[in-house]
Amino acid sequence: MEIRLGTPQEMEQVWGEQFPQSTKRFFLQALRQGQAEFWTIEEDSRLIGELYLFFSLEDPDFAVPGDRAYLCAFRVIPEKQGRGYGTQLMRRVLKRARELGYREVSIGVEETSPQNLRMYRRMGFTRQVKICTQDPCDVNEQFHPVPCEPFMLLLKSLET
Ligand SMILES: CC(C)(COP(=O)(O)OP(=O)(O)OC[C@H]1O[C@@H](n2cnc3c(N)ncnc32)[C@H](O)[C@@H]1OP(=O)(O)O)[C@@H](O)C(=O)NCCC(=O)NCCS
Repeated sequence: MEIRLGTPQEMEQVWGEQFPQSTKRFFLQALRQGQAEFWTIEEDSRLIGELYLFFSLEDPDFAVPGDRAYLCAFRVIPEKQGRGYGTQLMRRVLKRARELGYREVSIGVEETSPQNLRMYRRMGFTRQVKICTQDPCDVNEQFHPVPCEPFMLLLKSLET
């Protein structure tokens, strides 16, 4: 098992056709312009997990270059969930943000996901920034955020 940076091509393969194409293009553009990183877990030549670190987004509550980074699209393939892979991937990406000099990281979680909420709280995402009804990384063809189910934006300090 290896946790490493993934390439835009690998992201395209992992996403396939299952997500809105505009959102996929937004992520690919951010990766290519260095405004985001794609971190992945490779096991037996297969990518089984993904987590994206955005450095720059229009809404400064989510990300501010050099100061606050936004974590999103956190997934482990269903048959590998609950075995600690997600925790390891998250720890690696938090380390990366700290190494880059970031002071804090944000993450979104729906109130309907108590398991995820517990995991994030355990990992130090203790401050709630606001309730959101759009995610700056979930966009339409014009790259404008589309409305979504309400979710909490949580914050973790990297300074301790
Ligand atoms: C959230 C997710 C990335 C965590 O990865 P993981 O490898 O399952 O996580 P770990 O095994 O390291 O840790 C499991 C912790 O996450 C929680 N968890 C969340 N979803 C889980 C799932 N489907 N299966 C098992 N545990 C899950 C567990 O409760 C556990 O916390 P606990 O130790 O307090 O009980 C993964 O479960 C997943 O892809 N879920 C579906 C997509 C999703 O909800 N993504 C996040 C929002 S975009």
